[in-house]
Amino acid sequence: MRIRSNTYQKVCHLISSNICDLVRRHSALYLVKGYEKPTLGLATGSTPIGIYQELSIMKNTNFSDTITFNLDEYVGLNGWHPQSYNYFMYKHLFTNLTFKKRFFPSVNGVDLYDDLIEAYGGIDIQILGIGTNGHIAFNEPGTPRESKTHVVDLTENTIKDNSRFFDSIEDVPKQATTMGIESIMRAKRIYLVAQGKHKKDILEKAMYGDITPEVPASFLQEHDNLKVFYCD
Ligand code: GLP
Repeated sequence: MRIRSNTYQKVCHLISSNICDLVRRHSALYLVKGYEKPTLGLATGSTPIGIYQELSIMKNTNFSDTITFNLDEYVGLNGWHPQSYNYFMYKHLFTNLTFKKRFFPSVNGVDLYDDLIEAYGGIDIQILGIGTNGHIAFNEPGTPRESKTHVVDLTENTIKDNSRFFDSIEDVPKQATTMGIESIMRAKRIYLVAQGKHKKDILEKAMYGDITPEVPASFLQEHDNLKVFYCD
């Protein structure tokens, strides 16, 4: 597995260009012969913001046939809470681009999320960040390879990392809904991006170390269409 290093701006531009290529190709085929709609798996956190900025200014792509599936959401925050992932997506992408449908996993219907994804033909491109403990989405260390979308108790490490977005650490939700490892591995193509020196060690461990539930991102080594980027 090769980790590609480049500037954050170049990585975001490359990924957003690839997304636009896919969306244009699928949309054209969909119009001609009822081909499946393009589907995107979207991540939150600071890492994908640059990708969303790039996508927002791509004027030559029409996303109105595209279906989006977000990876995860906090339990207990409503969609207009400034730290909810619904709100994050509105702020960084959904106010700028119109999609056909946008889905988030929620406690009600958590068991149906994977079926919903499959009903739309699976995820064509999945964007992923990585937590400092090796988590992907909210799949914390110890999550089994075969996990589907589920409710998870967040670890102390993740609560601490994410507390920077909240007024105090007590305000960080203790649970989230998240696509599982299996849900993520089913995506047809995955772009994993790690930004910042504090992510370098865990990214290398995930990509070159043992494949183990203790480092959930390490399962991605088994994906046959994964591209990994590091930007400092
Ligand atoms: C959260 C999200 C993850 C994300 C991680 C890293 O925990 N659930 O999907 O990858 O944060 O976020 P950041 O990109 O801000 O470092």
